[in-house]
Amino acid sequence: MTERGSFRAARVAEQNVERQAFVLDQMAGRPAVRTLKAWALEQLAPTAGETAVDVGSGTGADVVALAELGARAIGVEPSPGLRAEAVRRAAGADVEYVDGRAEALPFADESVDVLRSERVLQHVDDPAAVVEEMTRVLRPGGRIVLIDTDWGTAIIHPADPDVLQRMIAYFHDENANPYSGRQLRGLLADAGLEITGETAATWIEPQDGARKGFVGMMHLTALKAGVITQAEADTFARTLGEAADRGAFHMSLTMYAVSAQKP
Ligand SMILES: C[S@@+](CC[C@H](N)C(=O)[O-])C[C@H]1O[C@@H](n2cnc3c(N)ncnc32)[C@H](O)[C@@H]1O
Repeated sequence: MTERGSFRAARVAEQNVERQAFVLDQMAGRPAVRTLKAWALEQLAPTAGETAVDVGSGTGADVVALAELGARAIGVEPSPGLRAEAVRRAAGADVEYVDGRAEALPFADESVDVLRSERVLQHVDDPAAVVEEMTRVLRPGGRIVLIDTDWGTAIIHPADPDVLQRMIAYFHDENANPYSGRQLRGLLADAGLEITGETAATWIEPQDGARKGFVGMMHLTALKAGVITQAEADTFARTLGEAADRGAFHMSLTMYAVSAQKP
């Protein structure tokens, strides 16, 4: 991991697990995310006796979904707090959550039948090396699905384009790999895998999202980071709030999913 990567990992680890779980639950409830999770499960179609792995398993629900189809399901998650939360939530389900990182998966070569990884590549410094590592553990004929956001598709309206541009540039810089979504297909193809499907889903924020969640917080974060002024932050929040009051707020973000098979 690079110095920037280890700093980021340490900061993520320090984050309150309850807060992380809350944000992941909110994301999991969005129709676009539900659509892609269901698509991934259909593409992977694990059968009884197969080994199915979710890399960066968070609170673990996707591991439980793999187990419900009969697979030996394993979540790989570096955060001890999220692993503990996943174990608590799985209560009784036949699943495992193991410590590990996508860069060095704790599995032998060609030992995994099915692998999924969702919204993880945007956090890694070398996504090509990570997809190579996923390919290493996949058996010939094994299936893989990657899902990720592409922050280049984020649209927020109405907002001053210059202020918005400075805020978005700051958030891009904070993210190891903000354009991950558009890269998924190429990463899998370059690793020698056969692409078997691809899809996308756009998350459209409801009107009350102008004042809460990511949009409601972003001007405060950007202000704290010094990339916008107090006056710009106030105008940003007021403009979006007033737009939402008349039903004219728009925020959208597209996520992508690609499936592939190892020849
Ligand atoms: C946005 S969350 C997505 C969680 C889960 N995949 C989901 O769909 O709800 C990203 C997850 O990736 C994990 N993560 C971050 N860096 C990782 C790495 N290098 N290897 C494996 N997991 C990582 C985080 O701890 C977190 O659980």
